[in-house]
Amino acid sequence: MSIVLDTAQRVFTLNTKNSTYQMKADEHQVLLHTYYGARTDSSDKSYLCYPVDRGFSGNPHPVGKELRTYSLDVLPQEYSCFGTGDYRTTALRVCNGDGSRAAQLTYREYELRPGKYGIPGLPAVYGEEAEARTLAVRLEDKASGLEAELVYGVLEELDVITRAVKLTNRGQKPLVLEKAASLNLDWQYGDFQWITFYGRHAGEQNMQRTGLHHGIQSIGSVRGASSHQYNPFVMLCEPGCGEGSGDCYGFSFLYSGEFLAEVEQDQFCQTRFVCGIHPDNFSWKLEPGESLWLPEVAMAYSGQGTGGVSRIFHRTLREHVCRGVWKNRRRPVLVNNWEATYFDFTADRLVEIAREAADLGIELFVMDDGWFGKRDDDNSGLGDWEANEEKLGCTLAELGERVRKEGLEFGIWLEPEGISEDSRLYRTHPDWAVEIPGRAPCLSRNQLVLDLSRTDVQDYLIREITRILAQSKAVYVKWDMNRSLCDKFSGALAGERQGEFAHRYVLGLYRVLEELGRAFPQVLFEGCSGGGGRFDAGMLYYTPQIWGSDNTDAIGRLPLQYGASFGYPVSATGAHVSAVPNHQTGRVTSLYTRGCVAMAGTFGYELDIAGLSGKEKEEIRRQIAVFKEQYQLIQRGDYYRLLAPGAGSCTAWAMVEGSGKEALVTAVYQQVQANGPLVCLKVPGLAAGADYRMELVGADDLDLPQPLPFGFGPGETLTGAALGQCGFILPPAREDYQAWQIRVRRI
Ligand code: DGJ
Repeated sequence: MSIVLDTAQRVFTLNTKNSTYQMKADEHQVLLHTYYGARTDSSDKSYLCYPVDRGFSGNPHPVGKELRTYSLDVLPQEYSCFGTGDYRTTALRVCNGDGSRAAQLTYREYELRPGKYGIPGLPAVYGEEAEARTLAVRLEDKASGLEAELVYGVLEELDVITRAVKLTNRGQKPLVLEKAASLNLDWQYGDFQWITFYGRHAGEQNMQRTGLHHGIQSIGSVRGASSHQYNPFVMLCEPGCGEGSGDCYGFSFLYSGEFLAEVEQDQFCQTRFVCGIHPDNFSWKLEPGESLWLPEVAMAYSGQGTGGVSRIFHRTLREHVCRGVWKNRRRPVLVNNWEATYFDFTADRLVEIAREAADLGIELFVMDDGWFGKRDDDNSGLGDWEANEEKLGCTLAELGERVRKEGLEFGIWLEPEGISEDSRLYRTHPDWAVEIPGRAPCLSRNQLVLDLSRTDVQDYLIREITRILAQSKAVYVKWDMNRSLCDKFSGALAGERQGEFAHRYVLGLYRVLEELGRAFPQVLFEGCSGGGGRFDAGMLYYTPQIWGSDNTDAIGRLPLQYGASFGYPVSATGAHVSAVPNHQTGRVTSLYTRGCVAMAGTFGYELDIAGLSGKEKEEIRRQIAVFKEQYQLIQRGDYYRLLAPGAGSCTAWAMVEGSGKEALVTAVYQQVQANGPLVCLKVPGLAAGADYRMELVGADDLDLPQPLPFGFGPGETLTGAALGQCGFILPPAREDYQAWQIRVRRI
């Protein structure tokens, strides 16, 4: 059973295939968190809460008169509150009508619901009734009337538990939420490390693993979006945890705005993890009767290490977060003109690229920035979404038609949230830009941001984009967003509600995306924010893929695609083959290597195809054929990280078909070494007793080392057990950045 209730003891046990999560409303009505880890039985685990009198950890009234061993500062709780004796970082801070900052939540009731709950206006993991169940536990702060409904979605087979919160003011006076996190998770003991993903524009999602120390460690964003700087996916694991073994927990915040993920090791070496909307510059007023839904956190435990948790999230995001026709349909191989032309193009130039692309097997042409208004550079024009017919030499409808005539579908770039001061839109609606009256706003890329917290702005965007899609018949939209928010203020909000702006902005964005997605179900939306500035599970609910980074250098992409793979599936990560020398780094890599790396993402091209040699075009044709043929395996196979970038000289990963029928292994050497060490790769997930043949993909055109290691020669085979436990020797590199793509097939 996925949810087991012991109503007499008020113990709630949530079971997934391999994990158990338990809570209990104790005799003092506090909802204790009693266990999260490997699947176990549903017996009451509150015996693990060992009562001791801890000096300077107070005791709630009236319990404390009798029981000095009972303290909220020590007990593991499901939803911790500020101001009433828990001195750790807390999940909820409320300013009451009398100005006091205090809440103490006690248990009231529970409710079981079939299926997985949804959240109005917010993304959420979804599941059929047969796949999921919901438990709602209602807590209340008797003094103020604040109700917290903790909702848990249990997807047993998927191995995932989700958690969201609905806060309702059932009191008589307004309340102001100052911090309202979605998840609080306590461990009373145990040693943990935490894994986070930090970065920058063109260098996102670098993996960082550190031990916990006393105090609070946190990552987050106050940039209006989830940000390039820190990703809202984190892991906590035991120190010895590896890719294939060890206790590991993963947490994905389904939210695209400002977030805070904190982990605290307290005075008793207890660990608390809190995750939710960033409290800086956040406040939310709840009038009597009003509610606020807090975004969802999806969590998973695996005893199979970081790799086990990653594969749970890959499946969850692919099959229970991404929606619509593009969830399962093969995504088109595209060519985007950005790095080919930047702002300097005409319709003829674009059609020339499309013509060459069609001949190679490319299926979609994407026109990037620069096609509208006054937009020959990034200083002006954002907001004026009328095609610049003078520049293009034709209308948008005609351009779409010309591209389709070449045999490609047409896609278009938009930055709906952006507004340039030098634009007709700004001159007409200066109040629609995010600015604080009386202050000069901070510019970034010489642009401002539209106030998406306003319904009139949301409606305007829905109308404009509907018109553009109808005119151009575009089947793909690259939804870009090229700056961080600051000067947060909305002319449409009262002064006392300005703290709601950043969250209302995200709700507005979600509404626009939801309505457009519903109106254009066939259109593939790709998220983008200068690459991975808003790369999160929340966005994937609306855009099933997100441009991974403005860094298109194959070697530069290794750490960031490696980092992204911890929390996100290959099908979510936009990746393109671009020109050399690479525009961001100047590095020269082979076309083969660039193809191998881009195939660990949604795969496409972003270079001037018309300017390539015949040999290069042949290689592209080959890559596209491989990608199309191997699509299911690449995008939906089980993904294993084999070698991390920076560790030694080689990065490697494998996609393995679920039944072990086949695998595609990719390895990229950073550097060729004279007389270098051997690299041995183990391929997990194969059938132990079966025989496998290995083949270097595209070998005809590669300069192969001789002799090739065993397994690559004619008639040579290895068993699944040998490949899984002992591995195979990777052919050595012949040059810097050498890549090998290896097909492993059961015979
Ligand atoms: C940032 C994106 O990440 C790029 O791919 C490109 O679309 C530019 N914006 C266009 O301004």
